[in-house]
Amino acid sequence: MVKAVILVGRLQKGTRFRPLSLEIPKPLFPIAGQPMIQHHFEACAKVPEMKEIILIGGYDSDQMRRFAQKMQKEFSIPVRYLQEHESLGTAGGIYHFRDQILSGSPECFFLFNCDICCDFPLVDLLKFHREHTPADGITMMGTDANRKQAVNYGCIVENSDTHEVKHYVEKPETFVSSIINTGVYILSPNAFAHMSTVFRQNYEGNYRDRPMSPVRDSISLEQDIISPLAGTGKIFVYKTSRFWSQIKTAGSAIYANRLYLGLFRQTCPERLTVNEADQPTIIGDVRIHPTADINPTAMLGPNVYVGPGVVIRAGARVKESIILDSAELMDHCCVLHSIVGWHSVVGEWARVEGFPCDPNPNDPLARVNSDTVFNDEGRLNPSITILGKSVFIPPEVIVLNSIVLPHKELSGSYKNQIIL
Ligand code: GDD
Repeated sequence: MVKAVILVGRLQKGTRFRPLSLEIPKPLFPIAGQPMIQHHFEACAKVPEMKEIILIGGYDSDQMRRFAQKMQKEFSIPVRYLQEHESLGTAGGIYHFRDQILSGSPECFFLFNCDICCDFPLVDLLKFHREHTPADGITMMGTDANRKQAVNYGCIVENSDTHEVKHYVEKPETFVSSIINTGVYILSPNAFAHMSTVFRQNYEGNYRDRPMSPVRDSISLEQDIISPLAGTGKIFVYKTSRFWSQIKTAGSAIYANRLYLGLFRQTCPERLTVNEADQPTIIGDVRIHPTADINPTAMLGPNVYVGPGVVIRAGARVKESIILDSAELMDHCCVLHSIVGWHSVVGEWARVEGFPCDPNPNDPLARVNSDTVFNDEGRLNPSITILGKSVFIPPEVIVLNSIVLPHKELSGSYKNQIIL
């Protein structure tokens, strides 16, 4: 049997996902109509040997436990949320909870970052792990990026015949390799032996000759475990060419929304809305919650998700956007490349628009622009428009490429602004 562990992180101020993460833990933010990590669950449930899924993170809200219960019911696989009381790092969390992960003696376990979207090839990854990786080893899933963007990720140098990882550098300063770490791994139980060495050295205060006083609380899988083990025959890379993207900013959430809606078209088309007589016009991939009320003269798509209780009135146009629960789009408004927050209202003939942060279509190795929402001078980078919870946009105004914090009532048009 195998298990899966999803690292869900913790609530932090100043996240690149604000203001959306003010309302909901980022891993639960809906992408293509379901929480970001529910896509991980769907992929895990397709692995026949999957016996348990464990979430590890620092959120202390009941929300995460309720979500775990819901997933357990939906996928008929035991699901647990294990709470870290301090930030233990990407290796620290799994090491701390190793007894729980290893209970029942799994052959190995998948490990996922929560903030990625992917057409997860888990069965193939498991097959690769069984065929290539030693009993105390780690398999990483890698993918290609272009030279310029690769440095923003963990970079992997492989032996292209054996796929052994010869060298690994986390977010290097200069180009190392175009194979990047996707944040998906398989670990054999004996991989904890390497972690135990690192933890012992850490507590002795002399890990890798770095003086450590006080002892670090947090241990990184990438820097403290994989990097030193590269080149020792313990780490192997499985490369995928399926879609993969990080979800760091709200802009990348729109892009991930598009990717998952496109996946649904192939794997579960019944989730998507089709054109019908006397119903709104649908273009491309659109998912609408059954409780949404949409006027038949509205036009939606491509790449739109409409959440529960949303009302979309006559002649409204929505494209490349996520409309969250109970929002209201009034007559003839236009919402493009934007996220409309819970209970927000967009007035009649208003225009809410962002600039897409799509990867360069002429570069097959380009990744979505996951740069921070703010640049070094504190100005807004090109990004989508985000309306936080309960925002009111009056009729006939234009809100372009701006972020509106929750509970704001705008009185005019805005461009490239953060409205506090
Ligand atoms: N439980 C827990 N505890 N989770 C954590 C902690 C922690 O202390 N620290 C980070 N995480 C989770 C985050 O929620 C996220 O899902 C994942 O671990 C990695 O987060 P970061 O540490 O922010 O790294 P990153 O996203 O910038 O880079 C990582 O992912 C890239 C792919 O998206 C690295 O693994 C890169 O090498 C990789 O390319």
